[in-house]
Amino acid sequence: MQARLTVVGIIYIGHSAFLIRTSQGEILIDPFLTGNVSAVVPDDLDPDLILVTHAHSDHLGDAIEISKKFEVPILTTYEVANFCISKGAKAIDAHIGGKLAFPFCTVKLFPAVHSSSADDVSSVGVPCSFVVVAEGKSIFHAGDTALFGDMKLIGEDSPLDVALLPIDGCYTMGIDDAVKAVKLLKSKIVVPMHYGDSGSAKADPYDFCKKVKVQTKRMCVILRPGETLTID
Ligand code: NI
Ligand code: MN
Repeated sequence: MQARLTVVGIIYIGHSAFLIRTSQGEILIDPFLTGNVSAVVPDDLDPDLILVTHAHSDHLGDAIEISKKFEVPILTTYEVANFCISKGAKAIDAHIGGKLAFPFCTVKLFPAVHSSSADDVSSVGVPCSFVVVAEGKSIFHAGDTALFGDMKLIGEDSPLDVALLPIDGCYTMGIDDAVKAVKLLKSKIVVPMHYGDSGSAKADPYDFCKKVKVQTKRMCVILRPGETLTID
């Protein structure tokens, strides 16, 4: 009998898009692919669930088309879910504070300090962040957010193995605030996202990781699009 895999692979697609791959299922987050020049999409992409933090085009991205193609649902906040359904996608609506169980993971929705709009709608619900627990590993995707003090509660709710944090400093928190976020979240591993290709600020992920290591002693990993962080 083969031992069950307990390895979780976190594949960076680019910008804020990640694929969490486990032996039980694949979770695609904020799949901004079309128009994202840096995106590297796995050839064998086969998601079981799509998570969308908010409706901005660099996060909702291709979620609606992928939902239709693979016949898998988009999990997001209530109004964003209804927006996706109105465009023909499958969606699961939930809201901040909610925790949903799937055969291959649990997903809990937490706040993000940001906004949410789509190309043709000025306001679509509210943004969120997610904690995904799969194979016993806990992964936080912050979405687009500013620093806020209640990040401490997110870290306390479920000890985090990995935190995916935006650092661009124009549309989201910048490097110094993201380092403060690491101190609140207390994640074992930190991965920067949302830099270099948006906003007026061109945040340097190496500068961020240096500050994380010096100020928090946590491990910081820079992933290039297409690269995988394996946690076991
Ligand atoms: Ni946004
Ligand atoms: Mn964004």
